Amino acid sequence: MAADSYAFVNLKPGTGKSTSSVFFATALHEAGDDPLLVDADKGKTSVRWDELAAGLGFPVVSKPSRNLHTTLPDMARRHGSLVCDVPQVEDHAAIARSALRFCDTWILPLAPSGPEVDRMLADDVLEEFLADTQGLRRSPADVVVLLNRTNTTRATKTGPDAEVREVLTERGFHVLSTQVPHVDAVYRQTFGTRVRAIGPYQRVLKEIKARRAT
Ligand SMILES: Nc1ncnc2c1ncn2[C@@H]1O[C@H](COP(=O)(O)OP(=O)(O)O)[C@@H](O)[C@H]1O
Ligand SMILES: [Mg+2]
Repeated sequence: MAADSYAFVNLKPGTGKSTSSVFFATALHEAGDDPLLVDADKGKTSVRWDELAAGLGFPVVSKPSRNLHTTLPDMARRHGSLVCDVPQVEDHAAIARSALRFCDTWILPLAPSGPEVDRMLADDVLEEFLADTQGLRRSPADVVVLLNRTNTTRATKTGPDAEVREVLTERGFHVLSTQVPHVDAVYRQTFGTRVRAIGPYQRVLKEIKARRAT
């Protein structure tokens, strides 16, 4: 059976791609899914994180390549799952495209703030890029938005998180009901130390696997 493959991707930097990649891969590791984390960003945040933490417990490799669609299949075969930390599409479209040609689940982390949503949807650049890339695949990838840096752990019916959900849903995006709260002490200040409090990412994993089962 092919390894499960996940890409954390967005148009812009600073949306939570690297943080989510590291925490999500940790959730896979703890679930016994034998992840390989591929850092496709030249900025090497995930790779540095692994170094500073003196090993995350699973392999992390740097591959800022435009040929990921040809190299990742072989790498994935040796693992139960593969997570790709994809660089921002606006600056590195070729690398991002090659990663998304291989990875079957595309996770778009996004803070539920008006300006960030506006930036993500500006001029349809991201949506056109995603649609074009789907056209290069044999079967379409599952595309989900992960609200990151929210006010609450659980989805709310009103407030900024709910408003952003509504806007994105109207634009045709599926927004995961699981969300990752803004907690500096856990997510921001964790860089270079042990990864902990992976609860939200365990729920993300569960929700995505449940989608695949239906
Ligand atoms: N849930 C969160 N709570 C608090 N800070 C966060 C959270 N997610 C990300 N951050 C912080 O936001 C910044 C950008 O995140 P990062 O994962 O590096 O984004 P990207 O890889 O998309 O550029 C980093 O300083 C990171 O520590
Ligand atoms: Mg990053």
